[in-house]
Amino acid sequence: MILDKRPRRLRSSFGIRSLVAETQLSVNDLVWPVFVQEDATSPILSLPGVFRYSLNDVVSACEQALFLGIKAVALFPVTKESDKDKLATQALNENNILCSAIRLLKKEFPQLVLITDVALDPYSSDGHDGFVENNKIINDRTVDCLAQMAVLHAEVGADIVAPSDMMDGRVAAIRFSLEKSGFTDTLILSYCVKYASSFYGPFRDALNSAPKMGDKKTYQMDYLNRKEALREAELDELEGADILMVKPALSYLDIISDLNQASSLPIAAYHVSGEYAMLKAAAEKGLLDYEKALLEVTSSIKRAGASLIFTYAALELAALLALSPNTQSNQF
Ligand code: PBG
Repeated sequence: MILDKRPRRLRSSFGIRSLVAETQLSVNDLVWPVFVQEDATSPILSLPGVFRYSLNDVVSACEQALFLGIKAVALFPVTKESDKDKLATQALNENNILCSAIRLLKKEFPQLVLITDVALDPYSSDGHDGFVENNKIINDRTVDCLAQMAVLHAEVGADIVAPSDMMDGRVAAIRFSLEKSGFTDTLILSYCVKYASSFYGPFRDALNSAPKMGDKKTYQMDYLNRKEALREAELDELEGADILMVKPALSYLDIISDLNQASSLPIAAYHVSGEYAMLKAAAEKGLLDYEKALLEVTSSIKRAGASLIFTYAALELAALLALSPNTQSNQF
């Protein structure tokens, strides 16, 4: 054959492929979600390789993350069942486990970017992100509490507050409260497009935070919808968010791509607990090569348009990405 165009030429060797690669996953993109608790460190059975850290151990875990080049951690508190109540009282306790962890980590590692989750579910006996009354999730009173939580997190040293609750108007309320309290440098990373997903299962196991009644479908988005994501993004941008998140990631690459085109803000994506657990389970069964599959799925999230990727595999990825290019160049 005499062909004018042979697309395979651009794939003909490792060197050529590297030169023309459109996507580079970097350790700078990664955010490591970290669970903290008052008790001794314990493993999370549904998330192999992930732990609930004691205050003591979270310091060495974060030291290791920094050593691997990770720039940011997202902290999630595990609240004792006996401390949970309907009013999520612990959420505003300046000595709760989350606030203690932030103070400690900010002191030890001033350069580590600390992201906090703003929602009521870790503290609520109802297991919902907002207050529950007569089987309904109450929007406006919840927003009031979230704004106070965000200011508390900023006061103890959080760099970024990340409302993950999906209540209406919370970004504006949080921005207003932060400005009023003088926290003009605190970023808001909004869980802007968060779908009601079955992929959060292992996370809820980790916190024992599954809803006690009903589900989260009156506030988290319906996975059948795509246009609605643009509306959420437009509102959060107008309300003063700095970064917009799509969650989960892998079944929502179309949404990541849409938001990246529609918004001038950076887009984050959360490779959630169920997505991570599925990969681990398949690897344990010998069904696929874990490291290759991990690089493939996280690169696809980057390719879709996310510039920040929250993943439980952040440390594994950082180590993989740090492997000398020479070890890869034996590839043809
Ligand atoms: C809570 C919250 C959830 C996750 C992050 N923040 C769970 C939920 O909405 O039920 C899920 C993260 C994961 O599955 O890895 N507001």
